[in-house]
Amino acid sequence: MQDIGEVVEIELVSFTSPWPPRAYRYEVRQNRLAHYFVARRRSPEAPEEEAEERDSGLLQWMQHWTHSTRTRRTSVVGYCGFWIAGDEAHISTIAVDPEYRRRGVGQLLLVTAIERAIQLNARLMSLEVRVSNITAQSLYHKYGFKVVGSQPRYYSDNREDALIMTAEHILSAPYQRLLQKRRKQLVQRLRPVPIAASQE
Ligand SMILES: CC(C)(COP(=O)(O)OP(=O)(O)OC[C@H]1O[C@@H](n2cnc3c(N)ncnc32)[C@H](O)[C@@H]1OP(=O)(O)O)[C@@H](O)C(=O)NCCC(=O)NCCS
Repeated sequence: MQDIGEVVEIELVSFTSPWPPRAYRYEVRQNRLAHYFVARRRSPEAPEEEAEERDSGLLQWMQHWTHSTRTRRTSVVGYCGFWIAGDEAHISTIAVDPEYRRRGVGQLLLVTAIERAIQLNARLMSLEVRVSNITAQSLYHKYGFKVVGSQPRYYSDNREDALIMTAEHILSAPYQRLLQKRRKQLVQRLRPVPIAASQE
């Protein structure tokens, strides 16, 4: 709940029809089918040892990942959510702070959502994406999503069509291989650059 303010700041600069804060409050407090995640920037003042001790999941990499010394009021750099119904998990939203895009944060969020959906016994991930949103489509393609249909004039702001994309059989061995491969590449990418090297 305490992250919603920061999430909505990113929402406002990411979407032409942003969700209001009350929509996120509903999702977090009341929607039992909903699962939401935030990616955080590592706080520059956090001691190394403390970061080492944090959870062993991919989110730990997020905390190791940036050595930015800029002072910034916020610490949330991205968020994502899905709804689960039966064996289908539907991505409801994903966005990254424009200042932190193209560094793997979107992938970190997507992998986290897929892995959580798998833990909840989902077999299929689905989502809608604007026909014009090539950037997001490219992210989804990387994780095995394929276009399976479209929803004409789905978006009310400009009556743009939505593409429906799914990643099917996410429990299957081939999908698991793809996920592990992408996860490995992502961990490499999020690995912190040693400060000495980055100063050269
Ligand atoms: C889509 C979004 C979440 C991606 O976040 P991100 O942190 O920049 O993504 P990543 O750095 O993990 O990039 C993952 C992949 O997405 C694709 N991608 C990301 N930015 C791209 C760009 N500007 N052009 C083309 N492809 C791009 C690439 O395939 C990239 O992989 P690569 O860097 O190995 O080439 C982000 O652009 C965003 O918040 N957009 C606005 C909100 C939105 O459109 N959400 C999706 C709604 S369906």
